[in-house]
Amino acid sequence: MAPIVLRTVAEVKSWAAAHHREGRRIALVPTMGYLHEGHLSLMREGRRRADVVATSIFVNPTQFGPNEDLSRYPRDFDGDLGRCASAGVEAVFAPEPGEMYPPGYQTYVEVTDVSQGLCGARRPGHFRGVATIVARLFTLFRPQVALFGEKDYQQLQVIKALNRDLYLDVDIVGMPTVREADGLAMSSRNAYLSAEQRQRALALSRGLRAAQALYASGTHEAPALVEAVRRELRAADLREDYVEVMDAERLVPLSTVAPGQAARVLVAAFSGATRLIDNMPLGG
Ligand code: PAF
Repeated sequence: MAPIVLRTVAEVKSWAAAHHREGRRIALVPTMGYLHEGHLSLMREGRRRADVVATSIFVNPTQFGPNEDLSRYPRDFDGDLGRCASAGVEAVFAPEPGEMYPPGYQTYVEVTDVSQGLCGARRPGHFRGVATIVARLFTLFRPQVALFGEKDYQQLQVIKALNRDLYLDVDIVGMPTVREADGLAMSSRNAYLSAEQRQRALALSRGLRAAQALYASGTHEAPALVEAVRRELRAADLREDYVEVMDAERLVPLSTVAPGQAARVLVAAFSGATRLIDNMPLGG
């Protein structure tokens, strides 16, 4: 069945209130649209964990820097509605920017420590925008469960901290990255890539896998693991933004992965003008 489309804050409040009155559990999947199989996996898992699933489709201006891709971010609202229907989504919240940020809007949420490195260091203000919109979507929907992809691994940690520190009591579920058959992590931004840039972009997942293989063979020092990723980036002529080995929860850089420690190797690199990110687990 086609989902109902909610356009205003008032409509969301009454939709959510009706379900809460009936004691139904709500799962929320916040997105910026241009949905792919990664998003759909979150929606399907939401259906398993709750009675109703809602999705938001909103290209949130406050999480884009001045020279980023806000105005050309890919959009396909009609296609997205069909994809939501196929994944069992009941309601889609798709507000205009002025609905979320009316004149006089002035409240922002900042998560400090885990927002600092990686993408936070390269995209000033990005996680402030993400934390703000996610906190407000949680306030509107009051979901029991919310699902996010591990592809945006730092974002997931920021949202977990936000949820904990503001006592929002949402069950935050991180879901594994969904990949194309050749290993490329699914991302709406893959739409920007030419065939040649897409081919070179495979170096991100290839590099991460090389680091995982090196780790499995007993090399636990971060510089060697980082170099395994860099080698692939160089071979594909990709410009590195960062490659780091970090503690999987606190997101602090590690010099060595300690025995039993859950760590993550994370990469950001440019294929042409498109900035791509990916990450994979090590140890744990
Ligand atoms: O991951 C995204 O698409 C966005 O950052 C999110 C979580 C929907 C907030 O705008």
